[in-house]
Amino acid sequence: MNNLDHINKNFSQKIIEWYLINGRDDLPWRKKISPYRVWISEIMLQQTQVKTVIPFFKKFIQKYPNLKSIASASEDDILAMWTGLGFYRRAKNIYKTKEIIKREYGNRFPKEFNELLMLPGIGRSTAGAIMSIALRKPYPILDANVKRVISRYKNVNLKKKNSTKNLWFLSEVLTPEEKIFEYTQGIMDLGATKCIARNPDCEECPLVNSCQGAFKTFELNNISKKDKSKKKIFFTLAHSNESFLLFKKNEKTFWESLWVPYDNQDQKKSNFFKEPLKSETKNFNHALSHMDLDITIEIFDYKTPFKIETNLEHRWVNKNQIDKFGLPKPIKTIIENYV
Ligand code: ADE
Repeated sequence: MNNLDHINKNFSQKIIEWYLINGRDDLPWRKKISPYRVWISEIMLQQTQVKTVIPFFKKFIQKYPNLKSIASASEDDILAMWTGLGFYRRAKNIYKTKEIIKREYGNRFPKEFNELLMLPGIGRSTAGAIMSIALRKPYPILDANVKRVISRYKNVNLKKKNSTKNLWFLSEVLTPEEKIFEYTQGIMDLGATKCIARNPDCEECPLVNSCQGAFKTFELNNISKKDKSKKKIFFTLAHSNESFLLFKKNEKTFWESLWVPYDNQDQKKSNFFKEPLKSETKNFNHALSHMDLDITIEIFDYKTPFKIETNLEHRWVNKNQIDKFGLPKPIKTIIENYV
């Protein structure tokens, strides 16, 4: 073992020891571990914080505990579980992936790294997490937490062009051959609880003696409020008693494939809307991660549902059926609080 191997072993060893005492073993995806459960949790955790993911993961697993139970779910069924979690492409990728697993792998979860990489929504880090956590094979990961830990430890400037390539290389050499399960979860936990973005808790960190970033201050590069774009959107929501007229959104922008009211962007009254019995307009803001939406929604009351002539995909949905459809959270809230 050369000197460098020693230093790297020290890094992983310290993390493993720390994990065994301090690891978050109460997280729901760390119980009854299977490739399927790790896959679902890692997809949810790709762009969402642990505390937000927990209830969504529990609900999802209750409905779809394994590949067999999700095999016949439609894309809409899966999108319906995603309302409020955001980044809906992830749900569509879960649908696509489970279809591939059914068709090409006899509905058994693939176990090779290169097979995982071919699946929609699974990149190198997610494949590494499934390999190391569910299958206990030594593959590196590089999610946001791990990036932060390694870049500080090795003083990698994240603004430099090659920094991601460099960090992958470092993650690979720092990943141990043994106790990979404890190491992978440990480095994630360290990044999430001690080596945090603002005010890292270096005093409590097991790597403090060899970390090149210990006790330094770090610039945060969050999207600031003024950099976020703003978009005004206009909807018309027709409803009768307890039914709501919804349309499937097809544009490849935010909320793709979700069910929304009629998109009335040009603010003209569409000729398929008859004169309503009553109408009111609501306006509110809704923040997406990269954009602030200013939503105006006119609500038209009708006595009964009516047939509309359009080739847009649409349906009248009963209020008590909306849990079966993927709706953006603010639209679901409006409907739930209406009538
Ligand atoms: N972030 C990404 N994956 C995670 C995991 N498995 N546990 C905790 N936080 C995570």
